Amino acid sequence: MITPKRHRQKETMGTAVVVLKIPRNSPHFATVVGEIVRMEKKIFPKHESLARSFDEELKKKNSGLLYIHVNGEVVGYAMYSWPSSLCAYITKLAVKENFRKQGYGEALVKAAIEECRTKKVGRIALHVDPTRTAAMNLYKKLGFQIDELVQGYYSLDRNAYRMYLDFGFD
Ligand SMILES: CC(C)(COP(=O)(O)OP(=O)(O)OC[C@H]1O[C@@H](n2cnc3c(N)ncnc32)[C@H](O)[C@@H]1OP(=O)(O)O)[C@@H](O)C(=O)NCCC(=O)NCCS
Repeated sequence: MITPKRHRQKETMGTAVVVLKIPRNSPHFATVVGEIVRMEKKIFPKHESLARSFDEELKKKNSGLLYIHVNGEVVGYAMYSWPSSLCAYITKLAVKENFRKQGYGEALVKAAIEECRTKKVGRIALHVDPTRTAAMNLYKKLGFQIDELVQGYYSLDRNAYRMYLDFGFD
């Protein structure tokens, strides 16, 4: 039996938020990924969505998927990768609309940061559309800084901020 790894985060409305990490060989993998792909299609516009390539992304050697379950339902997820020891990336983050503003997004990003920290990378980077105020605020709250504006990152008329968080190793 493969038990998903757990990150216990701050309490949300009296209940501890548990972030789960699902390995590819888990018997629940297909079900969880199926739920996430449905969320991905609903939340992100086509050009920003990984829905069609989610499984491919997860097949990549150095990538991981975290999610939160509430009453048997996946309510949020984060994907990350660490192609080299120089830099890891948070490649996806979303929380279902009716579960937002309850600390789940923050719990997911904190868990992703902890996962990347264990890979001994020097930096975590990510891209975010500057108009996504909630996500921008969340990343800033957790210490990410703006690196630069990348013109046309998502599509011809949609830019992205590249943001980063450096780990100080002493
Ligand atoms: C971004 C997102 C994941 C945040 O999830 P969430 O569970 O609602 O976030 P949390 O409740 O953990 O909030 C954590 C912090 O994020 C910021 N934040 C969250 N919602 C916000 C909002 N509506 N407006 C402004 N800031 C917000 C705040 O800094 C908040 O900290 P605070 O509660 O101390 O003010 C969610 O809004 C979402 O899925 N958005 C659509 C998809 C998306 O934009 N993904 C990011 C792509 S890069």
